[in-house]
Amino acid sequence: MNERTLVLVKPDAVQRLLVGRIIGRFEERGLKIVGMKLVRVDRSQAERHYEVHRERPFFAGLVDFITSSPLVAVALEGPNAIAVVRSMVGATRPHEAAPGTIRGDHALETAQNLIHASDGPETAAAELALWFESHELVDYDRDIDRWAFAPAD
Ligand code: CMP
Repeated sequence: MNERTLVLVKPDAVQRLLVGRIIGRFEERGLKIVGMKLVRVDRSQAERHYEVHRERPFFAGLVDFITSSPLVAVALEGPNAIAVVRSMVGATRPHEAAPGTIRGDHALETAQNLIHASDGPETAAAELALWFESHELVDYDRDIDRWAFAPAD
């Protein structure tokens, strides 16, 4: 099933010069970049993105962190993109993230875990709408699609 999902390459990844390496992993997997931008997010957008965590004790710190420096918002497309990206990102708590995942290879702290990825179809739709205007999501064909994606039925 072809899906779209949202990834945020967070401020710690930007500051640690890991943006290209992280996005490159998704490209190498075969996923298609259909939207991408560097954003300095304001508090109201950060609070909307993390609304589900509003009552958690770490909420204020999370908003401070995500607004502290630019991040890169990326929309990715491909077969089962939501699950594929989540599995590549690894567990939220980096000490539980398997080696070979992005967090398992590059992160140590839950509060600085480098990357956010949508956790299901409804979240993906809501998060893509929060981070991208519809005209910023681009439909296009890649020459490699016939090698990376199965033909449509
Ligand atoms: P993310 O996948 O962006 O979704 C929610 C974020 O909250 C999570 O990654 C972490 O960055 C952050 N988070 C979760 N639990 C904690 C915690 N105990 N302390 C600080 N930040 C947390």
